[in-house]
Amino acid sequence: MPVRSTIRTEARRLAATTANRAWAWAKRHGVVDATHPLAAELGAMGEGSYIAFPPGDRCNPHAVHIGRECVLGADVTLAVGMPTEVYPPDCPPVIEIGDRTTVGKGCWFVARERLVLEHDVTLAPNVYITDHNHTYADPWLPVGKQILQCDPVRVGSGTWIGTNVVVLPGSDIGRNCAIAAGTVVRGVIPDHSVVAGVPGKVIRRWTDDDGWQPPLTREVVVLEGWPVGVPPLDGEG
Ligand SMILES: CC(C)(COP(=O)(O)OP(=O)(O)OC[C@H]1O[C@@H](n2cnc3c(N)ncnc32)[C@H](O)[C@@H]1OP(=O)(O)O)[C@@H](O)C(=O)NCCC(=O)NCCS
Repeated sequence: MPVRSTIRTEARRLAATTANRAWAWAKRHGVVDATHPLAAELGAMGEGSYIAFPPGDRCNPHAVHIGRECVLGADVTLAVGMPTEVYPPDCPPVIEIGDRTTVGKGCWFVARERLVLEHDVTLAPNVYITDHNHTYADPWLPVGKQILQCDPVRVGSGTWIGTNVVVLPGSDIGRNCAIAAGTVVRGVIPDHSVVAGVPGKVIRRWTDDDGWQPPLTREVVVLEGWPVGVPPLDGEG
C-alpha cells in the first residue's frame, strides 16, 4: 500500500478512536445532578435526580420542576413555550415531573400551561407529550400561525408509557396505567387501564370488584424480594 494511503487510513482510525473516546468521556462526565450548578437553571431538581448527557433542548427551564430521584435519559426536550417566549422568573411550574420518575432517551415535553407527571412514572424512549394544539379555524391563515389552544395534561402516579407514544393535549391518564407502544392517547383514562391503538382505547382494566378484565393473558411470576426499594402508592400494595 502506498505510504500516503497508509497514513490516511491511520489518521482516520485515530480520528474515529479519539471521537469515540471523547464522546464516551463526555457521556460519563456530562451527567448533571441536583448538586451541579447547571441544575440551578431549572425551577427545581430534587436530591438524587440526574439528567444524562447530551441533554435535549430547553426553553424557559426555570418553569420546569423535577422531583427527587428522577432519571432523565439523554436528549430529553424540556420546552416551556418557544425560544422567543419569555416566562417570568417567578412563574409557577409548567412542566412538573414527580419523584422517582424515569424518562427514556429522546422524550419530548412541550408545554405552555401545565404538564404534570405524578410520582413513579416510567416513560420509554421517544414519548411525546404536549399540552397544546394549533387551531386551524381560519381556512387561509397558515395553521402554524394560528392561535394555540392549551389543555393541561396529567400522567398519574405509577403509570408506564411505552415507546413512541404521543400524549395529546387534555389527556388525563390515571394511576398505574400501561400505555402500549405506539398509542396516541387523548381524553380521560381511568386508573389501572391498559390502553393501546390509535386512537388509544382501554383494552384491559383492573377494578376492585372484577380484578383484571379481560383476564391477563400471561402469568406473572414475581421474584422473591421484588420490587427493590419502591414504596407502594397510597392505598395500594
Ligand atoms: C401493552 C403491552 C404492555 C401488552 O399488554 P397486555 O395487557 O399483556 O396485552 P396483550 O398482549 O394481552 O394484548 C391485548 C390486546 O392488545 C393488543 N396490543 C398489545 N400491544 C399493542 C400495541 N402496542 N398497539 C396496539 N395493540 C396492542 C394485542 O394485539 C391484543 O389485541 P387482541 O386482543 O385483539 O389480540 C405491550 O404490548 C406493549 O405495547 N409494551 C410496550 C413495550 C415498550 O414500549 N417497552 C419499552 C420499555 S420501557
